[in-house]
Amino acid sequence: MKVKKKVPLIDQHDKNGFYGGKFGGNYVAETLKKPIEDLTKLFEKCRYEKSFIKQRDNLYKNYVGTPTRFIKLQNLTDHLGGAQIYAKMVSDANGGAHKIYNAITHAMLCKRANKKYLCTDTGAGYNGKMFSMVAKKFGLGLKVFMGTRDIKRQKPNCDAMRSNGAEIIPVDSGSKTLVDAVSECIRYWVANCDKTHMGIGSLVGPNVFVKICGWSTAQISRELKFQLNDEFGQIPKKLKLINCVGGGSSAYGFWSEFIDYEKSNVELIGVEAGGSAKSKLHAAPLSKNSKIGILHGAAAYCVQNSEGQIDETESCSSGLDYPSCSPIHCFLKDTKRARYTYATDEEAFNAYKLVTELEDISPSLEPAHAFAEVIKMAPKLNDDHVCIINSCGDSLKDKDIIKKHLGSYNR
Ligand SMILES: Cc1ncc(COP(=O)(O)O)c(C=O)c1O
Repeated sequence: MKVKKKVPLIDQHDKNGFYGGKFGGNYVAETLKKPIEDLTKLFEKCRYEKSFIKQRDNLYKNYVGTPTRFIKLQNLTDHLGGAQIYAKMVSDANGGAHKIYNAITHAMLCKRANKKYLCTDTGAGYNGKMFSMVAKKFGLGLKVFMGTRDIKRQKPNCDAMRSNGAEIIPVDSGSKTLVDAVSECIRYWVANCDKTHMGIGSLVGPNVFVKICGWSTAQISRELKFQLNDEFGQIPKKLKLINCVGGGSSAYGFWSEFIDYEKSNVELIGVEAGGSAKSKLHAAPLSKNSKIGILHGAAAYCVQNSEGQIDETESCSSGLDYPSCSPIHCFLKDTKRARYTYATDEEAFNAYKLVTELEDISPSLEPAHAFAEVIKMAPKLNDDHVCIINSCGDSLKDKDIIKKHLGSYNR
């Protein structure tokens, strides 16, 4: 199993949609075969069309407000006393997170397919919020499937969805979180795919959804490449790109332009949700115990029990609280191009505290996991190492959780 050079990673699958011969694929109900085939044809046509790319780039620039900032975290660098630490402030994007890129592409595809309705899933609420923004902009109806546990813990994003006119469909089954929301959303699409376009909110699902999402978030690393050349006059020789991983859309977007570099030059580090140190439960299939299983139409590492059933997960961060991960990250793990680790809830809260005390930024609990890793790593490195964290979400949605755990919310 090998990562090819000069071929976008999203395209490195075989004719059945498998990466490395075993991750991904299209495990879908018979009734979805045709809609997925149609969507694949549409996407493969649009992604090379000049007018489609022009419309996308225009929206990224003028509606999302890209490029997002690339900033040095000097106080954190001085405090940790090792590597130089920077952040790519993807949370600057309109709506507050990277989920806007994928949502825009899906709204454009929905229009091209002459459909009037969108449906999607959400965990942290950012994907739902971004879909509600683009649905409003493009005049489309929207249903957002969301676990009832997440509806309670991510209220600010739910308020935003409702005020943009989206309907939130509460999902009360299973763990009442993202995994159940995605399942319900796919079930809804099976029955309504003639009028409704489905957008999955991460780099997961049947092959075409992985590709659409990766094609969209790749904008992040295109910008970063320019910004690195501006700041350093070249791509730094010892670069580490650190990103949290739930389904893996922000990490793919942050890394895609850098995959072809040698790992001794550009190291890719994914940080999953290790859950509470007091609990055995976690949401870290790439870095803790897991097996290959099939979830949401694709084969990937999944957190499973001894009978092979998808197991419960636990994380303070709704966006990372997912028992599986992208087939692309499974491929990057098995080829050793990326390294995966985890941070516990406690480490993420402590990282949030330290970063917000020292710097004028306020990352959500998802990127706080990535900050936790840099806090461990940076002091062991010298200052010719450049560590960049993708600060991919704004903390406002986590205000109540942070207040409860840390006693106050710094912003
Ligand atoms: C801010 C933020 N970061 C990260 C994630 C994790 O998703 P992904 O791994 O697809 O980027 C989410 C998911 O909701 C999120 O809202």
